[in-house]
Formats: sequence, structure tokens, C-alpha cells
Amino acid sequence: MDMSNSDAAQLTPHRPKVAVIGGTGMNQWPGLEILDSMKVDTPFGAPSAPLVVGRVAGVDAIFLARHGEGHKIPPHAINYRANLWALKEAGVEYVIAIGAVGAIAGWFAPGGLALPDDLIDYTSGREHTYFDGRPGSGLKHIEFNVPYAPIVREALLKAAKAAQIELRDGAVMAVTQGPRLESPGEIRRLKQDGCDMVGMTSMPEAGLAAELGLRYACLAVSVNWAPGIGSGDIHGQIEHWLALSMAKVRAILERALPELDVPG
Ligand code: HPA
Repeated sequence: MDMSNSDAAQLTPHRPKVAVIGGTGMNQWPGLEILDSMKVDTPFGAPSAPLVVGRVAGVDAIFLARHGEGHKIPPHAINYRANLWALKEAGVEYVIAIGAVGAIAGWFAPGGLALPDDLIDYTSGREHTYFDGRPGSGLKHIEFNVPYAPIVREALLKAAKAAQIELRDGAVMAVTQGPRLESPGEIRRLKQDGCDMVGMTSMPEAGLAAELGLRYACLAVSVNWAPGIGSGDIHGQIEHWLALSMAKVRAILERALPELDVPG
């Protein structure tokens, strides 16, 4: 599909290479010096929120609030196609997605951070491809054997090391439909399937990014033990660990962005 005539391609004065998609707990990016806010449209409709162009650590970046301004859009209703399309049109090459997740693996206690390198998609009924058979959509069976881009994962790992923040390298993400949390039986199944964590947004986000040639990785933040894995009040855990973890996420981002924003 031709992007050259589209809104974002023509209206974007800034062409940052890196975008951050903020999820639950990161609806805004404190520390980002805001330069511009672009309300764009795409052939798939409007993205979740305006694309916020800002500067952090001397690097221009785009921030997109996945759940919309005020965190109102549930995971299954997010217009993922519009979100990724808008970033591609704006000239982005690298996408860092922040994902708050439930922990399945024992090593991933709430408060921990991890970089998944694989995923299993348990979602259903989401608009998950640009090759949807509409006239002009074309068809490519893209490869998906590396769902999270090594170059972005490496930048995040290097950044975490520099910030002296522990970041587990490699894990399997389960992506469920939501918005409800899972039953203990569902979590047992995900564990048997080899999943280490469970979230609700990495798909179709990662797949669409791959279809567009965007290099995408997810910085996952453990905010609760998944149902049946731990005990206690899950929402209490989520609130507690979200509040405590986002400063670490921002510290990693500030160091990762300059790694990716290099010429060439
Ligand atoms: N399950 C699914 N998604 C989540 C969870 C969970 O336990 N915690 C945060 N996002």
C-alpha cells in the first residue's frame, strides 16, 4: 500500500526513528520534553491517541499511548493497525512497546523486567493483519520466527546494564484476549505451553509491526503473579508494582534511545 500521500507522511515535521508505545502504567512519559502532538488518520482509522513527539536524552522520539488518553481503550478494542501504520508513516524504524504483564515463571516476581524473545497468540477476533484480502491489500506470508527484533532487544539490554537494572533476556509471552484476567486453569495451560508471562497486547502489535518492516520489541514489566500462581489481591499487586516499576522503565528507555537513534 502507498503511504506517500498520507496524513502523517506529509504533516510530520519531525522524523524520529524510535517510537515508544506506552501501556498500562505508562499512559504518559514524564521526562519527555514535548515538541509536538500530531493527530493523524490512517486508512484503518485513527490511532489510539495523537502521536506525541518529544525529546529525551537528546534524542527525538514518538510516544503513543496504546490505551488512549485517559486509558480508556481495552486491549481487544485497540486499533493496532492504525497505531502501527501511523508510526510507520511518521518515519519510525524502531518500536519499543512497554507491556505490564502477569508472571507465570517463578523467576519473574512482580517488580521484575524481562525482554520476551517469543510469543504465543491466544487472542481471537482482532484485526490482526494488513493483508486482509481487501482490494489492494496484497498478500505476503511474512516470516515470524523472530517475533521481537534483536536490534531493539540488544539496545534495551545494553541500556539496562548501563543503568544497573536487572533485565531478564529471553522469555515467552502469552497474549490473551482480555479484558478479564485468566482463570487458574487457563494459566496452567499457558504454563504447560511454555509461557513465562501473560499480557494482552503483544498481538497483534508484534505481527503488524513485522508486516510493516518495523523493528519491534517489548519491555515487559511483571506487575502481578498470574491467577493461581500466587495468592492475594491481584489488583492490589498490579497497582503497587506499576507505581514502583515505571521509573526503572524510563531509566532504561533514556539509555536505549541513543543506542537506536544512530545514522544509517
Ligand atoms: N494477565 C493478563 N494480562 C495482564 C496480567 C495478567 O495477570 N497482568 C497484567 N497484564
